[in-house]
Amino acid sequence: MIRSLSILGTLLLLTALGCQEEPTGGGGTIDEGAITGPASPTPYALEVPDYFPAPVDDPENPMSEEGVELGRHLFYDAIIFSTEGNMSCASCHKQELAFTDGFGRAIGVRGEPGLRSSMSLVNLAFNPNGFNWDGGEQKLWEQAIHPVEDMLELDNDWEEVIRKLREHEDYPARFRAAFGIDRKAEISRELTVKALAQFQRTIISADSKFDRVFYRNTDFFTEEEQLGADSLFFVENVPPGTLHPGCGHCHNAPQFGDNQFKNNGITDVGSIYDFVDKGRGDITGNPFDNGKFRTPTLRNIALTAPYMHDGRFATLEEVIDDYAAGGHGVENEDPNITGFTLTDREKRALLAFLHTLTDESLLTDERFSAPE
Ligand code: HEC
Ligand code: HEC
Repeated sequence: MIRSLSILGTLLLLTALGCQEEPTGGGGTIDEGAITGPASPTPYALEVPDYFPAPVDDPENPMSEEGVELGRHLFYDAIIFSTEGNMSCASCHKQELAFTDGFGRAIGVRGEPGLRSSMSLVNLAFNPNGFNWDGGEQKLWEQAIHPVEDMLELDNDWEEVIRKLREHEDYPARFRAAFGIDRKAEISRELTVKALAQFQRTIISADSKFDRVFYRNTDFFTEEEQLGADSLFFVENVPPGTLHPGCGHCHNAPQFGDNQFKNNGITDVGSIYDFVDKGRGDITGNPFDNGKFRTPTLRNIALTAPYMHDGRFATLEEVIDDYAAGGHGVENEDPNITGFTLTDREKRALLAFLHTLTDESLLTDERFSAPE
């Protein structure tokens, strides 16, 4: 009895498979023909410095050489992603600016500023706490769905992007090579954002002067940089009770950002209910999270001005002055926002240290550049 039931089960399963509908994704008139060419993705071996934590696993999106390469093409493709053909991911995430855009608040396809500042895209594979300033996107691949919608005119959408990809002379073969699909109709939004995420996970920045001095012993700090590191940025060797920048409380090595959600005291509001951008609070619905944002990396910080989620500070000097003033006493400000006094020499030293976090090789690394 049990045996015949299981045979029946198998038959049902086979029937179900046979009847499965073609995933058309709303393409309608598209050519749903077979794609030819290689279809066995080569696993991608992410090279991680030995002093980094292990990358966050993404079992739903295993990386392949072909997936990364497809993602790189997509990342730089303005024709596919914007109706005007003038905007790609790289418009707001420029390699020469450590994948930021130089604007306080990102400028959208209509030429108007959005609410927030573009974020650097380095070392994303090591962030376990969700993406965007508020951590509202749990998965890197899901994060890419919204910027694509933002890049399109209102009467346009993902279906249009997928249609263009399926009709393209080159992309179908790339999708097949990356994901082993057989038919153009299988090119989907999910595979598109997964390829983008695979590419972005390869953007690792670990070749700053700080890395060379601290982890590889192949370089030396100047006296000024050393002062900035030892007694200003990091928190070791500081007598308890001393008011001190202590940036490393939250911007800790090796990522220089703990990815935790904090109110770092930059906004002067009457109460936690008054933040214009509630940040984390909009995600959790807990008013105590209002005005909290994810502590971002300070790697390449000298290149990524203006600063903070809304680009309110133009320079690192302004940032330091604001931290030195010690917040505004809003009840959910982090206890490590204490205020401090720096001599001119100390301020120069802290700035010099921040400049040691710049990774020049990142800016020209061809693996991350626009494809030929
Ligand atoms: C109009 C400018 C703009 C475009 C185009 C754009 N981004 Fe962004 N990007 C931003 C802004 C602004 C944020 C911060 C969003 C927020 O916090 O709400 C961001 C955040 C991100 C993050 C989060 C990083 C982190 O550390 O959490 C990723 C990843 C990202 N973008 C990838 C992409 C990809 C992939 C594309 C192309 C599909 C893209 N972006 C297109 C402006 C842009
Ligand atoms: C209590 C934790 C904490 C401490 C201490 C701290 N920061 Fe931050 N930092 C944050 C958070 C959270 C943000 C994001 C805030 C926002 O955008 O609203 C941030 C943002 C920044 C940014 C902007 C980054 C960007 O991509 O725009 C800079 C620069 C910065 N901090 C430098 C410093 C320096 C220098 C110190 C020491 C004087 C310091 N931070 C101390 C938590 C901290």
